[in-house]
Amino acid sequence: MKLIICDDYNGVSKAAADIVAKEVNTNPECVLGLATGSTPVGMYEILADMNKAGKVDFKKVKSFNLDEYYPLSAENDQSYHYFMNENFFSKINIDKNNTHILNGMCENAEKECEQFEQLIEETGGIDLQILGIGQNGHIGFNEPNDNLCSLTHLTDLTENTIDANSRFFKSIDDVPKQALTMGIGTILKARKIIIMACGANKHDAVRALLSGLISTDMPASMLNVHTDVTLICDKEAYSNDCIGIDLGGTEIKFGVLSSDKKLVYKDSIPTDNSSEEKIVSGIANKCKEIMKKYTVSGIGVGTPGIIRNGRVTASNLPFKDTNLKEKLETAVGLPVRVSNDANCAALGEVICGAGQHIENMVMISLGTGVGGGIIAGNKIYEGTGCAGEFGHIVIEIGGRQCPCGQLGCLEQYASASALVDAAKSAAETNTDSILNKLYTEKRTMDGRIFFDAVERGCSVAKAVLDEYINYLAIGIKNIYNILDPELIVLSGGITNSDKLLLDPLKRVLGDNIKVTISKLKSDAGTIGAALLV
Ligand code: PGA
Repeated sequence: MKLIICDDYNGVSKAAADIVAKEVNTNPECVLGLATGSTPVGMYEILADMNKAGKVDFKKVKSFNLDEYYPLSAENDQSYHYFMNENFFSKINIDKNNTHILNGMCENAEKECEQFEQLIEETGGIDLQILGIGQNGHIGFNEPNDNLCSLTHLTDLTENTIDANSRFFKSIDDVPKQALTMGIGTILKARKIIIMACGANKHDAVRALLSGLISTDMPASMLNVHTDVTLICDKEAYSNDCIGIDLGGTEIKFGVLSSDKKLVYKDSIPTDNSSEEKIVSGIANKCKEIMKKYTVSGIGVGTPGIIRNGRVTASNLPFKDTNLKEKLETAVGLPVRVSNDANCAALGEVICGAGQHIENMVMISLGTGVGGGIIAGNKIYEGTGCAGEFGHIVIEIGGRQCPCGQLGCLEQYASASALVDAAKSAAETNTDSILNKLYTEKRTMDGRIFFDAVERGCSVAKAVLDEYINYLAIGIKNIYNILDPELIVLSGGITNSDKLLLDPLKRVLGDNIKVTISKLKSDAGTIGAALLV
């Protein structure tokens, strides 16, 4: 299936009109299969203008319309006879005798359908069939059904279609419950087909169509067996799936978030830190691979560092005022939004995770450093580019040296690395402690070993944890007093030790400050990045 994605409805109308005009100009006696509905109206307008301007001549063109309501008279302003006359035939130089629309008032529907099929055959078959697509994937009035009909036939309309089309009628009760329609086989016999789709409400149908799977639940999917079909759609119909990228110093995580906010794909690649070009091409190649499988409308990237207008400066990546947004847009050809990784995680958490149903939230990540994201009114608060750098709140005058140049920054006391460092030195000093025993056995120290010692009742480990919790609580109280969020969400591997860390922390903080741990865990960053789009 060929695919033309246009910016908007006008683009779709123009692209479709160009194909029709080319067909007519190549073969002035061609047979067109025509469609009704709101989608082709713009195309008919453009074709009428082209006809007036002498750019296309319909004098010898023949046409067959896809369908007509039953029973409904040609004079009714909701009939497709009326529609075609109003929107197209009265505005072009087609010979009305060469236009064919099923008779919605025929006495014998079966006979009417048979004659219609026969007439198409006698005229030499349809050269170019124009189609719209229903929200439920119908083409013409071939509704989702276990048994799809091949030839022109009388059919019942589904509730979904009656509902969708009721916008054209005075009331839903006025919508006819049946219609005459070309069958799937009639449509597939056309030598060439174009199908148009506009608007987000066609997204699911377009996605199903592009998946290549064939199912009677999605009549349009039958078009996948035809060899000359062009889908023309706008960006909204094409997709609401977004790629979210969590760019880290050692790995780049990718996720695809569907329109119903589900993470439908996850993967990662190692970060090639040797140059900014290597990172950009690594991301672009992976995105292109994903785009073969998913219909993606945009890309969001969460990256460490300071971001101003899509330009990134990060100390642990080769980015120095790098215009990441522009570089990726050029490489991939999709709109890209860039924000700080901790901000993205916070956005993910407030929309899809622990902060659902609230609007003002703070997320604090406890990892190598202490990161943070502020959500105000369900949106990221970025300040001029680096708001939420909670790790660099000073909590100890003349305290530990931080690489940022300050002394006594929160992350020197409350990061996971700070906890592991403190555990290591306590183990080395207290040689008869459980902590020392585990440290000596495992020949390393990490969060798991440390919390194992706490759980086994090690008083040395417990003292380290108490001090850690006190420092973390000072940081959280400072943040709370400035921002007064509804919820503070903690993330990072060490928060997995829920009971050992969160419960005592809550006791130190008191009842006013609501704290919880991340629900999305390591997916928060990719989900939040996708939500930027
Ligand atoms: P629409 O209908 O163009 O009004 O969206 C298309 C269809 O139902 O086939």
